[in-house]
Amino acid sequence: MTRTLVALLAVSAVPVSFGQSSAPAPKVVATLAQLMKGTLYPESNVVFAAQDVNPGEVPHAKDPAMSTDLLTSQYGKWEAVENSALAIAEVADLLSAPGRKCSNGLDVPVANPDWAKFVQELRDAGMTAYATAQTKSQDKMTDVADVMTIACQHCHVRYRDKRKVADRCK
Ligand code: HEC
Repeated sequence: MTRTLVALLAVSAVPVSFGQSSAPAPKVVATLAQLMKGTLYPESNVVFAAQDVNPGEVPHAKDPAMSTDLLTSQYGKWEAVENSALAIAEVADLLSAPGRKCSNGLDVPVANPDWAKFVQELRDAGMTAYATAQTKSQDKMTDVADVMTIACQHCHVRYRDKRKVADRCK
């Protein structure tokens, strides 16, 4: 009986799939701060821009294919707002990826229930921004930009702001 159990346990410890059928685990290479600066920061600026300008009226850059301002790029105007909103919703998943560190070397607190709640709030804000960008209404977009700002703030107040760097992510 015991022997059988041990044998069963040993068998179940073997990975179920190997080789071509198993996808590699997502590789975490950036700190949380680097991820924010490289993704959420530029993407949310495209969403926030609608507070000051109508994205539909932003002219294309001289060479739109090389533009570093998404709104003026080849995929600019309202499409840039839509795509940035979707990118925010997708990056939300990366905020909860295991193995990422904060800039002070602590683990991102992915196991904390409020972390998951803040990440969901960001994901929701991204999806709301996407739906609103599709309506091409600058008025509605202004309200959505507020929702986005608050989603960033809720998590920052809890895990980033008014703390010594060493105390972030605790
Ligand atoms: C779930 C939590 C969470 C959400 C949501 C979040 N952030 Fe952050 N953010 C952090 C934490 C924690 C840090 C500090 C990371 C570190 O030190 O590695 C940070 C750092 C940053 C930084 C780098 C600057 C600095 O002081 O290190 C920027 C820029 C930033 N966030 C922008 C945003 C924007 C814009 C949004 C919303 C669109 C957002 N973040 C949403 C948790 C969050």
